[in-house]
Amino acid sequence: MSDRANQVISDILRRIHEAIVENDVTYEEYQAAKQWFIDVGEAGEWPLFGDVYIEHAVEEQAFGNRAGSQGTILGPFHLPDAPLLDAPFELPHRPDEPGDRTRVTGRVTDVDDNPLPNANLDIWQADASGAYSGFMPGPPDGNLRGQVRTDADGRYEYVTVIPGPYTIPLDGPTGRMTAAADWSPWRPAHIHLIVSAEGYEPLVTQLFIDTSDHLDNDVASAVKEELIVHPERADGGLAFTYDFALAPARTPAVA
Ligand SMILES: [Fe+2]
Repeated sequence: MSDRANQVISDILRRIHEAIVENDVTYEEYQAAKQWFIDVGEAGEWPLFGDVYIEHAVEEQAFGNRAGSQGTILGPFHLPDAPLLDAPFELPHRPDEPGDRTRVTGRVTDVDDNPLPNANLDIWQADASGAYSGFMPGPPDGNLRGQVRTDADGRYEYVTVIPGPYTIPLDGPTGRMTAAADWSPWRPAHIHLIVSAEGYEPLVTQLFIDTSDHLDNDVASAVKEELIVHPERADGGLAFTYDFALAPARTPAVA
């Protein structure tokens, strides 16, 4: 493991050193960067910074050539143990939950289109104003977080609302760095999912709403064309379908 650590850490440091030389970085800039590292730690923003600016490259490297549906970043707002929903499979929400009510349906299959019964979909999303329960003021704990299972034919459904786009926190060091570089802090509207079934690779992904702003300049670089969905009017609300195909587990389960 130390050879691996030596290789990777040496390479990252060498590239930082090269950037310092190529950009003629000053002592003042180095001191400002050092203070920024300290600020990120004190603000508890290392998970945010990593998931926004680094995770997409790791995800692409790890899973870009995997068979089946496309994945994308996990991000920092997943919480474990969301409730398993029964029919009619509505994500927990407030009585007056804002946003367009939307029915999501689809199938979970293997890469040969065989249905996967009892596959699990762990779903979480921001509300219509872009706020995540458990992380931001507004929505109550557990809002718009739930899990559903596929039926014997591999079919699933759930009801939710269209989420809103949101910015990464603007007042912390990650947001200040983003502003200093004059980058957009926005993420387009999306629904997060982890789709899993025994014997298959869990799929960590997001579905992006086609009408959202910021699809072409996601601060987290997580948008993929295959993950953009197109909700249409149906039954007084909206509806869309998305099918997931899971790749076989890389390491067979040990009996
Ligand atoms: Fe998100």
